[in-house]
Amino acid sequence: MNISITKTTCPKEKPDASTLGFGKIFTDHMFLMEYEPERGWYDARIIPFQNLSIHPAATVLHYGSEIFEGLKAYRREDGKVQLFRPIENIRRLNRSAERLCLPEIPEELGMEVLTAFVNMEQDWTPSAPGTSLYLRPLMFGNDETLGVHAVHHTTFMIIASPVGSYYKEGINPVGIMIEDEDVRAVKGGTGYTKCGGNYAASNRAGARAEKKGYAQVLWLDGVHRKYIEEVGAMNVMFKIGGEVVTPMLSGSILPGITRMSCLEVLRSEGYKVSERLISVDELAEAMENGTLEEAWGTGTAAVVSPIGELCYKDKKYTVNGGRSVRSPSTCMTPSRVSSGARSRTSSAGLFPLTDQFSPRKPRHKARFSFLHQIHFTWIKSYRKYCETP
Ligand SMILES: Cc1ncc(COP(=O)(O)O)c(C=O)c1O
Repeated sequence: MNISITKTTCPKEKPDASTLGFGKIFTDHMFLMEYEPERGWYDARIIPFQNLSIHPAATVLHYGSEIFEGLKAYRREDGKVQLFRPIENIRRLNRSAERLCLPEIPEELGMEVLTAFVNMEQDWTPSAPGTSLYLRPLMFGNDETLGVHAVHHTTFMIIASPVGSYYKEGINPVGIMIEDEDVRAVKGGTGYTKCGGNYAASNRAGARAEKKGYAQVLWLDGVHRKYIEEVGAMNVMFKIGGEVVTPMLSGSILPGITRMSCLEVLRSEGYKVSERLISVDELAEAMENGTLEEAWGTGTAAVVSPIGELCYKDKKYTVNGGRSVRSPSTCMTPSRVSSGARSRTSSAGLFPLTDQFSPRKPRHKARFSFLHQIHFTWIKSYRKYCETP
């Protein structure tokens, strides 16, 4: 696909890594392309980052026809920039598109435009530990009519934001409130997609949790209000009695790429892992009798985020003694590994994957908690997950 490029005439100053936070700063350019059934995808362009001009009747503003993705580019130790499993995000975007009657993007085209855009913006990939370039592809219905129908004209975009820590707590364990009133998604609905509406509907519970001093909510299923689904906008895992358990994908849970990667790493390391129904009663019992050893969320934004406290029906439970399971000096996430860069070379390109995955035992097994082990294991194997074309 021919991608036209209009460079900004006033490039912004790159931010200091200590000021990054999450999703507040945007790079110099953005990618856009359009779709109509008769024309397919057309008008691919990279232009200076700017506000959109959108018709007041545009479908997305009225009927919420919008889907998005989130993935990261990391600065490697050798200064080059590498994407984390981008093809999985394109596949998930297409599953979301199918559910919302939006057009799919052929995988090769998706990779082509994504890498073209990252190549353009790669100097914005920060190099400090824990930082990365967050990429936000999004697609929305852009018909200029109030009629309710499947979308005809669709716009696809990618914007990018250099990011640091997702939670203000950084890598420290966060407090989570088990939500037993609102539900995030139901089977047959859109829970397995990344559509904006899922997040809008989650906000009320999130705000309630925040008011009570919790970082996020633990979602229960929409039918029985009994089975654990996700934590905030992350998948959730528990280590109970020596076994790692995570809710099975049921249609109302987003199939996280970090979740998939964690499960692959854990299984390759020989850990017992189950994807199954986990009831809130089972969790409460495990918290009461001390068999809940660790709990954590997984997601692109926060990567692996330990849970320090769970609150259910106003009763508070401490997980892992509320202790931080990783200290700043030893915390090893993919971003940490890939961002130990000494230099910020502008010539850095996307690095083609050549390294083969060879699982090795974590060296620090005896000294650190289980969650530590996942981080260490991830360092050893993360290259497997950084597919670039
Ligand atoms: C609702 C929800 N669940 C889980 C995840 C984790 O998915 P991933 O690991 O692909 O980022 C996300 C974040 O994308 C999410 O929004």
